[in-house]
This record gives sequence, C-alpha cells and structure tokens, in this order.
Amino acid sequence: TKATPQSPKQQVAIKAAEIVDNGMIVGLGTGSTANLFIDELARRQREHQLDIQVVASSVISRVKAEQAGLKVMAIEHLSHLDMYVDGADEVTSDMTLLKGRGQDLVCEKLLASHATAFYVMVDESKMVNKIGEKNAIPIEVIPQAAQLVLNRLSKLQAKGSLRLNAAGDNVAYSAAGNLILDMQFTTFETAQINALLTVMPGVVEHGIFADVAKAVFVGSSDGVKLLQA
Ligand code: A5P
Repeated sequence: TKATPQSPKQQVAIKAAEIVDNGMIVGLGTGSTANLFIDELARRQREHQLDIQVVASSVISRVKAEQAGLKVMAIEHLSHLDMYVDGADEVTSDMTLLKGRGQDLVCEKLLASHATAFYVMVDESKMVNKIGEKNAIPIEVIPQAAQLVLNRLSKLQAKGSLRLNAAGDNVAYSAAGNLILDMQFTTFETAQINALLTVMPGVVEHGIFADVAKAVFVGSSDGVKLLQA
C-alpha cells in the first residue's frame, strides 16, 4: 500500500508528540493542529504504552482527548505541567505569537505560561514579520467593560469591534463567559501593545504571547523546521 503524504500540520503534530515522555502531564491546545496532536499523542500512548495524563484548554479538546483514550485531568488538579502544545494564528521569527481566534484564550495562556515547556505547531502560512499583520488582536474583556475598553483603545488609534457569533446575530462569548474585541493597532510596536493590554483594567486576557514559547515547529512542503531561542 502506498503511504498517503502527510500535510505540514500533520508533520508538526507528529514531531511535537515525539517529545512526550512517559510519566508526563501534557497540556492540549485548541484548533485543527492541536486536534492532530491529540490523535498523534493517543497513538503514541498506545504504541509505546506510555503512562501520560493530559489537561485541555477547551471543552472540544477535552472531549476529543477522552474519545481518543487519553487520561484527562482537570486544570484545577494540576500541581505542575510538563509541557503545553498548541497551534497559533501568527508567529514571528523571535517566537512571539498571536492566538485567540477561538474562544479559549484564557485557558490557553494559563497553560502556556505554567508549562515547563510550551511547544508551538504551525505551518509556514502562519509566519509573519509583525504580529497583527494578518489578523486582528483578540482582546478578551469582562462583558461590562467592552465599550469602555473600545473607547480607550480608539483613543490609541486602534480600530476594531466586538466579535460576533458565526451567524452574526449576537455577540460571541468566550469559554470564560467574556466578550472579545478584535483590534488592529497602527501606531505601536508589539511589545508596547502587549504591555498596555496586560495592565488595562477590564481586560482579562489578550492574544499576544511574548517570551513564552520554548520552540516552534514550522511545517512546509519541504518538511519541519524548528525555531528555538
Ligand atoms: C485558538 O484560540 C487559537 O489560538 C488556535 O490555536 C489557532 O487558531 C490555531 O488553529 P489551527 O491549528 O486550526 O490553525
């Protein structure tokens, strides 16, 4: 039988799963690449009889992990996290990330920042020169703060709006029950945006992940490249 060629996303998922060792607690990200990683991790667990536990950044990843036969624990029970593995929406060459296209930004950054090692899996279409180049920056706010934060960001020349659901007939709620502003900044560097959003009252979390990734697997038709500090 002829082996079907693996997509770049599949290749990076396989590489990331290869790092997982027996006894580890592994954090699962959310998204199509994270889904491939969950499948690959479950396969590795079976083949090598690994004793591993996972925690999930989202309901969808928890359900998928359970169905795949992984042992899922609650984030509340974590005392440490050996690694966290997730996709991203944008990545720069210095391994700053943009995330949060989904609804699970708060848990994603929580797990990424508590993990001993955070590995990122992307295909080369996610590589950018500057964060925000292709996507707005997701900013999760408590529901009461949406308009005030939008006003404040407008004064900083940022443009954007409240995220709506897929049907466009209601606001989109995050998994944490918050609202999300998708904003484009014109006048600031990424580090400045990161700094100002991190301390802005009403903002629960935002999509810039700076100084948190240990390595990024970048898949392309030529194979997988590893970005490392
Ligand atoms: C979820 O909030 C995002 O940060 C995802 O990690 C991101 O959208 C990557 O998804 P894909 O792997 O499907 O591209």
